[in-house]
Amino acid sequence: MDLTHEIEKRKTFAIISHPDAGKTTLTEKLLLFGGAIRQAGTVKGKKSGKFATSDWMKVEQERGISVTSSVMQFDFDGYKINILDTPGHEDFSEDTYRTLLAVDSAVMVIDAAKGIEPQTLKLFKVCRMRGIPIFTFINKLDRMGKEPFELLEEIESTLEIETYPMTWPIGMGQSFFGIINRKDRTINPYREEEKLTLDDDYELKEDHAIQADEAFQTAVEEFMLVEEAGDAFDLEKISKGDLTPVFFGSALSTFGIEEFLDTYVDYAPMPTSRSTKAETEVEPTNEDFSGFIFKIQANMDPRHRDRLAFLRVVSGKFTRGMDVTLARTGRKSKLNRATMFMADDTETVNEAYAGDIIGLYDTGNFQIGDTLYHGSKVEFEELPTFTPELFMKVSAKNVLKQKHFYKGIEQLVQEGAIQYYKTLHTNQPILGAVGQLQFEVFEHRMKNEYNTDVIMEPVGKKIARWIENEEAITDAMNSARANLVLDRHDNQVFLFENEFAMRWFSEKYPEIKLYNLL
Ligand code: G4P
Repeated sequence: MDLTHEIEKRKTFAIISHPDAGKTTLTEKLLLFGGAIRQAGTVKGKKSGKFATSDWMKVEQERGISVTSSVMQFDFDGYKINILDTPGHEDFSEDTYRTLLAVDSAVMVIDAAKGIEPQTLKLFKVCRMRGIPIFTFINKLDRMGKEPFELLEEIESTLEIETYPMTWPIGMGQSFFGIINRKDRTINPYREEEKLTLDDDYELKEDHAIQADEAFQTAVEEFMLVEEAGDAFDLEKISKGDLTPVFFGSALSTFGIEEFLDTYVDYAPMPTSRSTKAETEVEPTNEDFSGFIFKIQANMDPRHRDRLAFLRVVSGKFTRGMDVTLARTGRKSKLNRATMFMADDTETVNEAYAGDIIGLYDTGNFQIGDTLYHGSKVEFEELPTFTPELFMKVSAKNVLKQKHFYKGIEQLVQEGAIQYYKTLHTNQPILGAVGQLQFEVFEHRMKNEYNTDVIMEPVGKKIARWIENEEAITDAMNSARANLVLDRHDNQVFLFENEFAMRWFSEKYPEIKLYNLL
């Protein structure tokens, strides 16, 4: 059937990585491969100033608050692949985490010289919680890095996931010769055209000087060891995210990308089903259109109030102008203005299928987590809240503006832009965020949309922990180093000064059961 056929063609993923590992470069090379762009240097404003920009994005970039997170679609081998950008660096925010709730698989890019870095670990945990397949691309083999076995060992021990190398590197840096493709035992040379092949005895079929090379011999021995003693291939484990296929390459030199893509499309899942509040599952091939909003891109230009809501299509087919219902309010509307992002252009979408992401122009009707549907009613389960790490006391500069101030906070909190806490007895508002950018966006939007200047006073980095048995809390436990506050549902939360303060607290009060959100 047409619908099923379209949906089976879709693969939707995000790249998880630490800044500088090569996410942008890899994205660009994938798009080049898919023929979606004609030249490199098109992705992300950082270097070329030319990205999938629309007017509001340009405004943000001029202001230095680039919140550019986009979705790009490209074709490869008959598949439609959607890449969702996960903003890092100073753009890191809850949106980065939430993007991972809208994908069916993730690609983890690791810098071979650096191994697992903090941001990779944080994002990895969200993927793990969702049990989605994770593919690993070890990048920058054209430079000296850690030994391949050391990297695999680091992935396995730090991330607690099994590894299955799909390719194996021969040398690195200056002496990088190429990669062995495990699937067919061909060797793709880095600096030469002709591929070589290993026979069953791990000998080169072709006559080539490299055979005598020590680095080559070592790599082949390692490869042998991987085949004999490494984790077994297990598609079931891959699909649950318990085993990650690993690739080696150099994104900058477009090397190892084809091997990666070939395998990715074979093993990455098609769009998956999603749970509803009523504890049912909506299958992607369900005839009725449904989807949920995982990100709202605020317009930073005060002259234009409209925002862009990113919707992941969960089931069925979207067609332009279709009637949809917003599950939270029951309100019906026509979706006339939807966009999809291509590498150097945004396009009006006429149709989209389960797995795709569409951008909806919004004048303030949507909230993060909202369900839109056509036909019989569905409402997807709520999106999780992430444990914030940064905190800021906030107040209105002008006390006469209190009403605007609280209205603004309420809306921005509901929208998922920022988290709201308050001090225990004095009810002084405290904002929580996973990235500094969220505070900047908050301040800017309060001024522009709610006409309120705010005073922000950093509380700094804290470790937030919720409490299972609140009734056991006593006044004596509340201190500057273990500060008790309330979240927006009036649950008590400890903000610990640091790891040490938290450990000290747990030893002193073992009866208090602490937990964190994701
Ligand atoms: P990010 O999005 O993960 O932050 O990383 P990005 O792709 O921007 O890459 C970070 C830096 O690493 C860039 O260098 C990029 O050229 C380089 N890089 C990416 N892949 C490879 C690779 O396979 N090998 C090598 N040697 N370098 C790689 P930069 O100096 O920051 O930028 P540029 O001046 O080179 O553009």
